Amino acid sequence: MPRVEDVLRQWGGEFALTAYDEPSGAYMFIAIHSTRLGPGAGGTRMKTYATPADGLLDAMRLAEAMTLKMAVAGLPMGGGKSVLAVPGELDPDTRRNLLLRHAHNVHMLGGNYRTGPDMNTNSADMDTLCEVTPWAFGRSVDNGGSGSSAPDTAVGVFHGIVASVGHAYGSEDLAGKRVLVQGVGAVGEPLVEMLVKAGAHVIVSDVTLDRVESLYDRLGVEVVAPASVLDTECDVYAPCATGGVIGPEDIPRLRCRIVAGAANNPLSQRSDGELLREAGILYAPDFVINGGGAIHLIGYEALGWSQQEVERGLVGIGTTLSRIYADADAAGISTEEAAERLAAARLAEGRRGPAPA
Ligand code: PHE
Repeated sequence: MPRVEDVLRQWGGEFALTAYDEPSGAYMFIAIHSTRLGPGAGGTRMKTYATPADGLLDAMRLAEAMTLKMAVAGLPMGGGKSVLAVPGELDPDTRRNLLLRHAHNVHMLGGNYRTGPDMNTNSADMDTLCEVTPWAFGRSVDNGGSGSSAPDTAVGVFHGIVASVGHAYGSEDLAGKRVLVQGVGAVGEPLVEMLVKAGAHVIVSDVTLDRVESLYDRLGVEVVAPASVLDTECDVYAPCATGGVIGPEDIPRLRCRIVAGAANNPLSQRSDGELLREAGILYAPDFVINGGGAIHLIGYEALGWSQQEVERGLVGIGTTLSRIYADADAAGISTEEAAERLAAARLAEGRRGPAPA
């Protein structure tokens, strides 16, 4: 576990806010990594961590990933993220009050940070935040928002998997391809549905048993235990739950040809993209393939896009990945490195314009 001061020094982000919420026992973090391309934007994650410092580090790393995500997707936003590091499940009142206090902190940033849904927060929670501040994307449709971004995140990941299979196998046909989806929550579940429809052989895993059972009953997918995920033979391994699921020591164990999923920061360190390349595994950089949620929220709510324009943006995830794969091959570098170079170029040319309303 790295020390907070070391990470702060290496981070390169703008700032992080920290607070403690006495009634819930939650630590609250808002990390703004970059406002170079626009207001720092990124979801509010509610999660239990081993220590509060782990929550802060997660917020910082996730905010950094958002900077890269926005740059690669060509969206006029910077990178930020919030973490509400809760001690466990909260009763509804305590949870609501924690969200209201978080909303107050978001509001103090005056629109330089804009939040949205993330792991364990949803549109109803964004409605709650909007009682205090306008700076939350993803409110429910009834409340003037664009609703959940999770289904469009899944659509983007699906396009990304198709492009990755095309690059690795020379054909984009998913029929018969073994795709392992780790985590079948708000993003993983709709992804599984699309994969099944496309004829893939889908394997699912989740720490919450009810979720896999319902998919097994409904779609007849294969199920593997969470502990067996990394050792399961498949064409595509799609991590769609928390990050840090692939450490350097895990890479020799992997029995997949492609890693392409929705999870933010699936590699415990970004530099492990090189180890995946050496292992002959095609890696879809997380901040490219999981940009669908950002495209949905920012497209609809900040840029006034039509459904057709959002869909075009989601299809663009596949196109961008194909370009990154070609760049990586041509330069003899990892796909992670190629994607980071693309983001760096966008950031270098980016001039911060007026913030969208
Ligand atoms: N949390 C999602 C993501 O990481 C969706 C999101 C995007 C939320 C942009 C807020 C802003 O992409």
